[in-house]
Amino acid sequence: MKVTWLEKENFVTTVIGQLKDAEVVLDIGCGIMPQSYITPKMHICCEPFEQYVEVLLERLKGESDRNYIVLNATWSEAIKIFPAKSVDTVFLVDVVEHLEKEEGLRLLKATERIVKKQIVVFTPFGFIRQEHPTGRDAWNLEGGVWQKHRSGWLPEDFDDNWKIYACKDYHTTDNMGNPFDKPLGAFWSIWEYPSMANSQEQRYSDAPKSLWLDFQALQKKHQALQQTKAVIFARKLEENPFLMKLASVGYCFMAKIYLVLRRRKTEQEFTQIKLASDVQNSVTKRESTRDWWESCHKKDHKFWLSGTNPQKIWESLKIAHLIIPGTIVLNIGVGLGYDTFELAKHGCIIDALDISETALARVMIVVSRIWLTSQIQDLPPNTYDLVISHLVAQHMSNQDLSEQITHVIRSLKSSGVFAIQFAYPLNGKIDILNEDELHIKSGAVVRTMDMFKEMVLKAGGRIAWSQELERFPDYGLGWYGVQIQRVE
Ligand SMILES: C[S@@+](CC[C@H](N)C(=O)[O-])C[C@H]1O[C@@H](n2cnc3c(N)ncnc32)[C@H](O)[C@@H]1O
Repeated sequence: MKVTWLEKENFVTTVIGQLKDAEVVLDIGCGIMPQSYITPKMHICCEPFEQYVEVLLERLKGESDRNYIVLNATWSEAIKIFPAKSVDTVFLVDVVEHLEKEEGLRLLKATERIVKKQIVVFTPFGFIRQEHPTGRDAWNLEGGVWQKHRSGWLPEDFDDNWKIYACKDYHTTDNMGNPFDKPLGAFWSIWEYPSMANSQEQRYSDAPKSLWLDFQALQKKHQALQQTKAVIFARKLEENPFLMKLASVGYCFMAKIYLVLRRRKTEQEFTQIKLASDVQNSVTKRESTRDWWESCHKKDHKFWLSGTNPQKIWESLKIAHLIIPGTIVLNIGVGLGYDTFELAKHGCIIDALDISETALARVMIVVSRIWLTSQIQDLPPNTYDLVISHLVAQHMSNQDLSEQITHVIRSLKSSGVFAIQFAYPLNGKIDILNEDELHIKSGAVVRTMDMFKEMVLKAGGRIAWSQELERFPDYGLGWYGVQIQRVE
């Protein structure tokens, strides 16, 4: 584990800067104060003590910045009903010290299974005695027994997969406000899902299907669910006869979860509208294309950065046989880095080219050389066995793409292959000449195969192979995969 020591003034703000955006947060042991460091779409509060739950439900009335679900359950009851990788982030703020060490370690391990992005732990540095012999706690509620500290934690309790942010003098008083003789420390420990390249995450639009499968898994947990006293906040079952039926045979909790997940799907549809307005705003405020991409990368924006499964890219572009140790590859438009990391795992020697510095920084650890789009003329001649461009050409004007193809062909070895995907119009619906900012930023620049061939010929190349990859009739476009080689 790596420890970063911080001053009290910038302790919390630094940690907030490390937190990833999350749609679904599970806040275990939230008491009456759920975490407020990030704003997810769905905030699941899990609290074992009934009186805290009652207070919490009161406090959440009228909150409208997110959807809250409140579970009256212990961590172990709650965690077992969540399918693998079903929440983005788990918060454990001031929780582990209330458990015996072994139980705390079990909690951390169990949490890794259900999380997609981060586990965020906050706890005192070492053991701080805390007891409430009268049974009343610092909020004057009857949770004294829940507030007792049963273990002390140090950075050494976390392995190398955790990053620690510690402060030596964070706590100056105990939880009742009585000053300590000298300030005591605290630390945050953040675990991240190990390798983005290994993750099975799919494109945003694939999500609803996997949620349905998750629901089927939930059904199997019927027994456990009945023991779990769950209080779900503000969800109307009456809207759906199927759910009413489920609820009537004792599956109330599942029915509500299902409803929440279905709502999430609707939210995704809203998100699509929001995505469209994001681009529109970017165009209206005359943000440069480069800045647009920088901001997408800084937010790890899953939709705009795609994150296509690498095997799928290689198979569709018919280059899987070239992904072998020693192949020298230039990867254009690295997105979230999935493809680049996977190429590295297969022993390729990789260079990367992208319009965004943040994108290149993301893959720096596995690439030999990086180029920004503005440095395209610096690509070395006669170097690459393989150049890959997937979901990038549709974000480029014809002029920029022509220039890119020219330099890439120059940088190919004589046997080298430039494998590229581009979008084409299925029918007359799309204005094939439209390459304005809106089309470029949203990836809607399309071109016919004839236009593309002409660009390749002018650049000194030839089309060695081409195939239609996919059709999207609703959008009036399709994708072609093409392999380009140099004309000797
Ligand atoms: C939609 S993502 C595609 C990611 C990945 N190749 C995939 O298929 O999942 C587009 C990527 O292309 C980059 N990009 C956009 N315009 C570019 C340009 N003109 N030259 C190189 N990269 C560009 C973006 O920064 C982003 O990383």
